[in-house]
Amino acid sequence: MTTQTGSCGLFDNSGDEPPSNHSTNPHLRDLISRRTLLQGTLGVALMNFIGSSAHAAEPAPVKPGLMTFQSIDISRADSVRVPPGYSATPFIPWGTPLHKGVPDFRADASNSAADQEQQVGSHHDGMHFFPLNANNSNEGLLVLNHEYVDPDLLHAKGPSYAARRPAEEVRKEMAAHGVSVVHIRQEKNGAWQVVIDSRYNRRITASTPMDIHGPARGAAKMRTLHSPDGTRARGTFNNCAHGVTPWNTYLAAEENWAGYFANRDKERPREHARYGVVSGSRYGWESAQPEADIYRRFDASSSAATATADYRHEPNQFGWVVEINPFDPLSTPQKHTALGRFAREGVVFAPVREGQPLVCYSGDDSKNEYLYKYVSAEPYAAKSAGGHLLDNGFLFVARFHADGSGEWLPLDVKDTELQKKAKLAGVQFADQADVLINTRLAADVVGATKMDRPEWGAVDPRSGQVYFTLSNNADRTTTEVDAANPRAANIYGHIIRWVPLKGNHAERKFSWDIFVMGGPAGDKPVGGAVALAPSNHFACPDGLWFDPRGLLWIQTDMSGGILNRGPFGNNQMLAADTETGEIRRFLTGPVGCEITGVVLTPDLRTMFVNIQHPGEGSSPGQFISHWPDGGDRRPRSATVVIRKDDGGVIGS
Ligand code: FEO
Ligand code: CA
Ligand code: CA
Repeated sequence: MTTQTGSCGLFDNSGDEPPSNHSTNPHLRDLISRRTLLQGTLGVALMNFIGSSAHAAEPAPVKPGLMTFQSIDISRADSVRVPPGYSATPFIPWGTPLHKGVPDFRADASNSAADQEQQVGSHHDGMHFFPLNANNSNEGLLVLNHEYVDPDLLHAKGPSYAARRPAEEVRKEMAAHGVSVVHIRQEKNGAWQVVIDSRYNRRITASTPMDIHGPARGAAKMRTLHSPDGTRARGTFNNCAHGVTPWNTYLAAEENWAGYFANRDKERPREHARYGVVSGSRYGWESAQPEADIYRRFDASSSAATATADYRHEPNQFGWVVEINPFDPLSTPQKHTALGRFAREGVVFAPVREGQPLVCYSGDDSKNEYLYKYVSAEPYAAKSAGGHLLDNGFLFVARFHADGSGEWLPLDVKDTELQKKAKLAGVQFADQADVLINTRLAADVVGATKMDRPEWGAVDPRSGQVYFTLSNNADRTTTEVDAANPRAANIYGHIIRWVPLKGNHAERKFSWDIFVMGGPAGDKPVGGAVALAPSNHFACPDGLWFDPRGLLWIQTDMSGGILNRGPFGNNQMLAADTETGEIRRFLTGPVGCEITGVVLTPDLRTMFVNIQHPGEGSSPGQFISHWPDGGDRRPRSATVVIRKDDGGVIGS
């Protein structure tokens, strides 16, 4: 059983869900040149904001202050490296106690499940800093996802994979998943500390009670033994990237949830099969003994006479967006179903405009899956904005055309085009809840473009232009390449970007191009994409974030042979000036990690970055990395706090 998820392409033995898109949707076949692209109907608008990035590798002039740090070399060291004049300090590693009286992390990982329920989880991922008072840069709530666990490291002697798993182990694994809300404060000496007795400190785990909202609330396929009316769920897991709503709450996206379930039925329903729910689960949680309902629900086989007497519908309660109000530790997290169900990496919002619909984008991170957009039915109003805006709206999926244009195809049961295409395909949707629970199938039906694993998205605060990482897709064949996914066996990934028609994100049409292709220096870039040099080459872009100045931070998730034998060294974080096309390497991580999750305090003087799964592939007693504790210690995921030695703005 492999345990790691979210890893990069070729040579990869990760636990990413296997491809499950067997639709005949086209891979756009026509490779186009940049010249053709720019001659398209929207080419002039596109030229305005991409023209300046069509140039080569060596550093271009940058605006003073935006990016003046010295690009660092690749590294294979078991440490975090940052440019001269910066420091990186490990912070809140897995196992950090969040409440008074909770035991410290024990070096042999012998902490109990009950300890873990009150300690920081493992596999740090998407993250945001919420200042406690408006724009306070010295105190706030750091909220972060814990994507998954590595049982070999989570338990002192590794997992017991007997026929039945010990419930104590399963409970600990469930507790190390989810989300942490951590009240943190900066001391006078500049160091950051956890406010250990804070009422805000909270763990949300794979068993935390949640409410289901939106069109799928109460739907027949959401009903289970635990929630016969289909309105309540338990827990969230495999939360990869995140989102921050315009009303200042946190969104945790549910990514590779399918592998947590087992369905041994002879025939699996489409809402399982299309997502990769198979007969065996990744961790065997359903087998926990002594048995309990909280574990048994991971067996999604039909075992009783009715669906409300077993857990055949339990997987349908996952794949959604979970809204958490970090400022109210007693609040019940909400699963918003109107945004669709898939292996959701994260959520990124377009800038809000008073009186206009709210718009957000998400990627479905699996090979040959799609990019989605949600547009609220109600207009946004700062005064009354809240989670209700995520419960009533329209879901769309992207189709990229070879001429550099694109369109958003509605996934609306009332849409005549969807109805027509569904009929042709012999597919039936009973209602919008059925469409949403089967989002991938609806997207197949309307003819969305199969992408190379859409991961994080980011919206340029200056231009409103949307960027998305496409991490890799080793499976794409030469006959399946298209303009938006132009590389066969795309082991290095790329970053695509688009601008909506008239600058209005609610519009159905957009123009797109490729910002940069990952890969070794010297690789010929596609069209006008930025070319890379040894000073900045990278592969498998994953995390992506625009800081408030408009600097684009790119994080990588290379694995396997690319990590070991490629020219890129360990996973890394780079910064890009998208106006000039300059990219510089800012951080390199320890052995075996991926870099994921980044945020700055409002004064831009402290940066938090997550180091996930250092020492991936370690086994009990045989640790490939010893970061961050050093010596012979077991590796732990952790955040790093990055400061400039002179207290200056990060990036300068
Ligand atoms: Fe969890 Fe898509 O990386
Ligand atoms: Ca990834
Ligand atoms: Ca990721």
